Amino acid sequence: MTKRKTAVPFQGTAEQEKQLRELIASYKEVPGSLMPVLQQAQDIYGYLPMEVQEIIAEGLGVPLAEVYGIVTFYAQFSLNPKGKYAISVCLGTACYVKGSGNLLARLEQELGISDGGVTPDGKFSLDATRCLGACGLAPAMVINGEVYGNLKPEQIPDILAKYE
Ligand code: FES
Repeated sequence: MTKRKTAVPFQGTAEQEKQLRELIASYKEVPGSLMPVLQQAQDIYGYLPMEVQEIIAEGLGVPLAEVYGIVTFYAQFSLNPKGKYAISVCLGTACYVKGSGNLLARLEQELGISDGGVTPDGKFSLDATRCLGACGLAPAMVINGEVYGNLKPEQIPDILAKYE
């Protein structure tokens, strides 16, 4: 899964930055504090844009490349905000063998974004995920907690239209 930079401009608030700086200050002298700081920073912002990574790198005295490397390595971290409607397409084995790769490709085509991206209006985000625990419905995807199963790519436009 490739993570890409978002097209959505960063819109962090002064209050969020204050929380972040307090968080960094509370961890500054603690060894191995990068992971917990990143986790809690993601709780503050909902994701970890470069602007936030830069503040963390500077605040903890860690190279930005190291921060970026961790954020892009671990699936729990996201460089992108979630859309109003967060779409997760299962690429687990059961779904994949039933063609979920084609579902993902159709979603990318319809939304004009790639896996890990968010539409410029912030409406839809798209992520490929591991098994959703709904293998009996393979291939499956979830939109804001609603499961869609036994999907064919040609059903995608009608499903997206429900959210327009
Ligand atoms: S592999 Fe897709 S839900 Fe399990």
